[in-house]
Amino acid sequence: MIKSFEKSLDPEAAFLSGLLDLQYGLKVTDKLSRLAPHVSWAKGWPHNLQAFWNAEAFMWSRKIEKQHRDLIAKELGILKTGKNLDLGCGAYSYIPSVGFDVSPKMLDFNEQCYAKVIGDLEKKLPFKNQEFASATAIFVLNYILNYQLLLPEIKRVLAPKGIFVAVLYNGEINDWQRQKEVNTFGKKEWKKILEEHGFKVKISEKAKLLFFHCFNCS
Ligand SMILES: C[S@@+](CC[C@H](N)C(=O)[O-])C[C@H]1O[C@@H](n2cnc3c(N)ncnc32)[C@H](O)[C@@H]1O
Repeated sequence: MIKSFEKSLDPEAAFLSGLLDLQYGLKVTDKLSRLAPHVSWAKGWPHNLQAFWNAEAFMWSRKIEKQHRDLIAKELGILKTGKNLDLGCGAYSYIPSVGFDVSPKMLDFNEQCYAKVIGDLEKKLPFKNQEFASATAIFVLNYILNYQLLLPEIKRVLAPKGIFVAVLYNGEINDWQRQKEVNTFGKKEWKKILEEHGFKVKISEKAKLLFFHCFNCS
C-alpha cells in the first residue's frame, strides 16, 4: 500500500518522503540514492557535499535542540550591532548576517540572513578585506579540511578589532552527519590552531557547547 503510494509520487516528492523515513532510522539510503539523480538539488546524494547538505536543509529546524539554539543566540547577541558574516550558516543564523554556505537549499530556508552567498569554505572567501565587524561559524569547523586556508581568510575579511566566534558541540554528533566530518579536534587543539593563526582566544563551555571567542589582534 505504502509502496504503491510512493510510486505515484514524482521523484522529488518521493525523495522528500524518503528523507523523512531516514530521519526515523529506516534503511532507505539505497532507495534515496536511486531517486537522487532525478532530483535537481540532490544529484550525487549522499556523497556530493552540496547535495548532502541540501537534503539536510529540509529537516534542519528539528536537528539542533532549542536549548542550544537559545544559548548560542544569547552568546552572539553582543555581535548584533555590526555586520556579521555567518560561515556555514545553514538554514539557521542566530543573528542578522550575511550568510555563506555551500548549500542553496539551506540558504533558502534561512530567515535571518539579509544577504546570501553560495560558496565553498575550502576556498578563498569572495569578500573584501576588513568587510565584517564579526564572523561566526556555528557547528561548522569540524567539516572543514582546509582550515589552514580558511582561518587566514577569516582574518582578512574581519575589521582590525573584529571578532570571530566559533561554536562546536562537545558531545557525540549523530552518525548521519558524522559521515561528513573531516576533523575531530578538541578544545585544546582548536585553541592552539586558532592562536597559531594570530587570534587571541577565550574559550567557554556551556551545556556541551564549546564557544571560541577569537579576537583579531595582529
Ligand atoms: C551542521 S550545519 C550548521 C548550520 C548552522 N550553522 C547551524 O548552526 O544550524 C553545517 C553547515 O555547514 C555547511 N558546510 C559544510 N561544508 C561546507 C563547505 N565546504 N563550504 C560551505 N559550507 C559548508 C553545510 O551546508 C551546513 O549548512
